[in-house]
Amino acid sequence: MNDQVSDLRTDGLPEWAPGLTQIPYWLFQREDVVEAERARVFQGATWNFLGLAAEVPKPGDYRCTWVGDTPIVMVHDDSGEIRAWENRCAHRGALIAVENQGNAKQFACVYHAWTYDQAGTLTSVAFQKGIKGQGGMPKEFDICQHGPRKLKVAVLCGMVFASFDHTICSIEDYLGPEILARVQRVFLGRTPKVLGRFTQALPNNWKLYAENTRDSYHASILHLFFTTFKINRLGMKGGIIVNHHGGCHVSWSSNVMPKAATDDYSGIRSDSGYQLADPTLLSGFQEFQDDITLQILSVFPGFILQQIQNALAVRQMVPRGPDKADLHWTYFGFEEDTPEQTEVRLKMANLMGTGGFISMEDGCVGGFVQRGIAGASDEEALMLMGGYEADSQDSRVTESSIRGFWKAYRSTMGI
Ligand code: FES
Ligand SMILES: [Fe+2]
Repeated sequence: MNDQVSDLRTDGLPEWAPGLTQIPYWLFQREDVVEAERARVFQGATWNFLGLAAEVPKPGDYRCTWVGDTPIVMVHDDSGEIRAWENRCAHRGALIAVENQGNAKQFACVYHAWTYDQAGTLTSVAFQKGIKGQGGMPKEFDICQHGPRKLKVAVLCGMVFASFDHTICSIEDYLGPEILARVQRVFLGRTPKVLGRFTQALPNNWKLYAENTRDSYHASILHLFFTTFKINRLGMKGGIIVNHHGGCHVSWSSNVMPKAATDDYSGIRSDSGYQLADPTLLSGFQEFQDDITLQILSVFPGFILQQIQNALAVRQMVPRGPDKADLHWTYFGFEEDTPEQTEVRLKMANLMGTGGFISMEDGCVGGFVQRGIAGASDEEALMLMGGYEADSQDSRVTESSIRGFWKAYRSTMGI
């Protein structure tokens, strides 16, 4: 345990029993937890998704994004590198880039025109020498000593990740070989092309959404659309992969139903008899070299790569205090797609997102938890499905990957 951890304890965080199966509700409610997460999780030794390289295709292109709730600028510089730096002027803290995206050789802060290059290095200070020998900065002022924090950047399959920790391991080692292979199976060496994006406001702590994406157990219970149209049942062939530190996972299924499947559907809602007015909503094309129709992949702390049939998306979580978060969705296809394939992807995009036939429930169930725990800071959630560990399992009737999230969280937070 390091000094910082002792400080946090003495700052008044309650005790948390060891293990991964009891998750106290104060974790989703306290401002001091939000602050500790900002420093230790998001600005600590983690890889954070910034966006797709396809969003900054040309030299000078930039896009504003976040690591946790820290504003970040992602820039494609003139040498072809992707750079990332904190969007905070070294003078008095204003945003340096104020447009969501654009193209720039350099960035001048609107407040007093301190200017930065594409790598986020401070290059000039307006009126540094004052006017006519009066005013200006002290002669000891060294421009090289000032500037926003720069991040380490890694690009994997056209996805840009960044870390405040310049000593962090490679993104490949962070994922581990099994998760890395599952990333590569989605991209297959193709060039991503953005199809659209939107932001979903979540009425809950970001960790409740991190749990939800790792919770394969809820899918065929909460999401009636899944079972009604037979997209995903727990009896289908599938499984869970959890990586070495627990924070990255894959939940996958293929629409192959084993002969001996004996789902216990007692007590859950049954098929409704509803039919789709346009059944082509679910008519996909054979895209992958396997029969996996659903793969949800997470990267600790706040990233999700989604493949639901041919609907591909990346999702970035941005905490907004203890009880709110923004979820930024970017749907994508590939430059190699035919127009018909793009059409299929756009149609299938209706399954997910804020009003998506499947995922609209995920947008509100986190709010149900946040409201349900309002008076129960000292109580705790139970995470016992599938045992006590955070291991890979052939069954999806498990909370193993959620325990994986908490394993990574505990070790990153030092609590
Ligand atoms: S705050 Fe940016 S130049 Fe003053
Ligand atoms: Fe869900």
